[in-house]
Amino acid sequence: LELPPFVDALPLPEKAPLVHSAKGTKKLQIRMREIHVPVHRDLPPTRMWSYGDTALAPLIEARAHQPIEIEWVNDLPATHFLPVDHSLHGCGRELPEVRAIAHVHGARVPRKDDGYPDDWFAPGKSLTCHYPLKQDATALWYHDHAMGLSRLNVYAGLFGMFLIRDEAEDRLGLPSGKYEVPLIFYDRDFSNDGQFFYPTSGDPEHPWVSEFAGDAILINGKIRPYFEIEPRLYRFRMVNVANSRFFRLSVAETGRGTVAMPLRVIGGDQGMLEAPAEMKVVTFAPGERVDVLVDFSGAAGKKVYLRNGALEVMEFRVGGPTTEAGSVPAVLRKMDRLQESSAVKTRTVTLNEYRDKVGNSMVMLLNRMHWHEPVTETPRLNTTEIWEFVNLTEDVHPMHLHLVRFQILDRRTFDTFEYIMHKELKFTAPAVKPEAWEAGWKDVVQCSAGVITRVLIRFEGYTGKYLYHCHILEHEANDMMRPFEVVS
Ligand code: C2O
Ligand code: CU
Repeated sequence: LELPPFVDALPLPEKAPLVHSAKGTKKLQIRMREIHVPVHRDLPPTRMWSYGDTALAPLIEARAHQPIEIEWVNDLPATHFLPVDHSLHGCGRELPEVRAIAHVHGARVPRKDDGYPDDWFAPGKSLTCHYPLKQDATALWYHDHAMGLSRLNVYAGLFGMFLIRDEAEDRLGLPSGKYEVPLIFYDRDFSNDGQFFYPTSGDPEHPWVSEFAGDAILINGKIRPYFEIEPRLYRFRMVNVANSRFFRLSVAETGRGTVAMPLRVIGGDQGMLEAPAEMKVVTFAPGERVDVLVDFSGAAGKKVYLRNGALEVMEFRVGGPTTEAGSVPAVLRKMDRLQESSAVKTRTVTLNEYRDKVGNSMVMLLNRMHWHEPVTETPRLNTTEIWEFVNLTEDVHPMHLHLVRFQILDRRTFDTFEYIMHKELKFTAPAVKPEAWEAGWKDVVQCSAGVITRVLIRFEGYTGKYLYHCHILEHEANDMMRPFEVVS
């Protein structure tokens, strides 16, 4: 499928209408439905599922410490249009074929409101969840989390962005209104008639694939769009909602000798950094958010490109003079640095992959355990723990925990052969601190192959059974997902 780039304008999300209820809680209703919308000028409408009327679900905007309530309504059809794998755990033929449950990724919420994979509901049903939002300003996102189906439901289009704001953020005077732009990144493959294509293993009894990358890069519901801007500072709220693709983003004019423009990262998954981190390239994994300032004031009248690796994925058309250029704050927010010595426990989590005789991946596990096995991780409320992810596979896995936020301690390469064969830990290099852009509060961490990645986790908010998993959605489904239970 050869499609000319930069023929569609970048769509911007509508704001979700919040209604005040009697109790003072703001309310919102969100419907999941099937829609047919074009993702490129030269394609017929594509069938997809959305939380709104277009490919771009409503933007939920809320204030920290001001609770909201969302009624999630499942108006989806009764049959799925993507290849369901009934052999996966929790995906049996006795269940309704279409099941959905919305999870607000990064929200600190009671267990019953978290969108637990088993809390799915069928078409015609709805569920109301309460979000206390006792947390710092940041970009969250919402997406489907139904057991055994989330990779297909998210691929079908069930995701949206959710911003929390607070006074500390207001005081910074960052670009706002039309100068603050949500950017939702993902990839899809298309059939010749312009419909979503999702691959299968070839085995009709077990169609699951371990991951894949689509040819087309979409931003906010369009393939490689253009965006008309002013020559000034912009704030981009970026989220990677792809099933398994990592994006490696930079901004530059084209032509020989072009140098990348600085990306000033001001925040990550769970809020602001202490100070902007200047980067040329940011590589972010499924589930991760990056809050970045880009200054176009030197580019009036030019075309500038957002690139993923070497591919130009969006064209900025920079217009004429603007009234106010905007400025990058030198200091952002004071952050409590967790001390390694404050951790009451260290837990080791191995990341494992098992292959069949021909080398196809069969199953991916955490600590060699399946989702349905009993809880083994039981942190205490209001304590700090170190979790070390020991990656014994050949992939990078973006590990995510629900409920909590954490700080990355370090990453260190080790000899995986010795570890597997002789249960011996031999480091092969010194520990490396996180990069500047990921040094703030996080809820997803990239765990590289052959590396032990250590994070300091604060278990705060609520007790109960939550989960952690790899955010490559194919891995999560089979079976790189485990419960943990916060106990009092
Ligand atoms: Cu973004 Cu368990 O999810
Ligand atoms: Cu993974």
